[in-house]
Amino acid sequence: MALVSATEMINKAHEGHYAICAFNINNLEWTKSILLACEKAKAPVILEVSEGANKYMCGYKTVADMVKNIHDYLKITVPVALHLDHGTYEGAKACIEAGYTSVMFDGSHYPFEENLAKSKEIIELAHAKGVSVECEVGGIGGSEDGVTSSGEKADPEECKVIAGLGVDFLAAGIGNIHGIYPANWQGLDFEVLKKIQAVTDGKPLVLHGGTGIPYDMVRKAISLGVSKVNINTELQLEFAKAERTYFEAKKDLDTKNKGFDPRKLLKPGCEAIEAKVTELLKAFGSYGKAE
Ligand code: 13P
Repeated sequence: MALVSATEMINKAHEGHYAICAFNINNLEWTKSILLACEKAKAPVILEVSEGANKYMCGYKTVADMVKNIHDYLKITVPVALHLDHGTYEGAKACIEAGYTSVMFDGSHYPFEENLAKSKEIIELAHAKGVSVECEVGGIGGSEDGVTSSGEKADPEECKVIAGLGVDFLAAGIGNIHGIYPANWQGLDFEVLKKIQAVTDGKPLVLHGGTGIPYDMVRKAISLGVSKVNINTELQLEFAKAERTYFEAKKDLDTKNKGFDPRKLLKPGCEAIEAKVTELLKAFGSYGKAE
């Protein structure tokens, strides 16, 4: 099966009260590890890429071709969508052309009318090519790709208007933030989430900043309409921890066993990614759903 748009898998998750995990990828190792774990788990998945990570990996076309080729080479059978994370207006348009099967247009920093007009345009362009679209209302807190937002909560009325444009799924701030949560974090605002779900006529919602939210809190959000959970920092932390263990054990200096060979050196990090992905697929319910 080729890469697919994220609409069907997310709609199924919404009906079935579980969430699709959307993992950010940074390189070939991330892509391969996540795909292998999801295939083993028979879980549909979204691989998402920020604009910064796209630049790091030499552009949208390189990323789209790499993901498609790794996907085909590994003979992946579970549904996989390739999604632009926090796309700009220009970035979203470029990804629709480059072979992405899903894009997020993040116009949350624009005045609402402008966010609305640009979202509408991206939705039309994307849908004409069978590409799914996520839009955002209200900033997600924390910092990603050097952009810091205050973590305001979305206005349900604005969510209703954007949902009415025919967006496939909607990111709405409910107190979630990117990166590691501070010790005094107040938790997710379920009242705002309930209001958004009620006025958007059951539009699947997206929870950004999935790293570090207690699983029970995420599951409650899923029960209230969240059908896509974004996870980035968590896999970076797991990878870094496993690599630190490798280096602290001085395995890279083991010349007899070629511990410096990148295929050996990066293996513990890749295995740690696979283990955490499997845990998250089970925690948020998509494990086994592509059976
Ligand atoms: P975390 O890095 O906090 O997991 O957030 C990921 C995210 O929301 C990507 O858009």
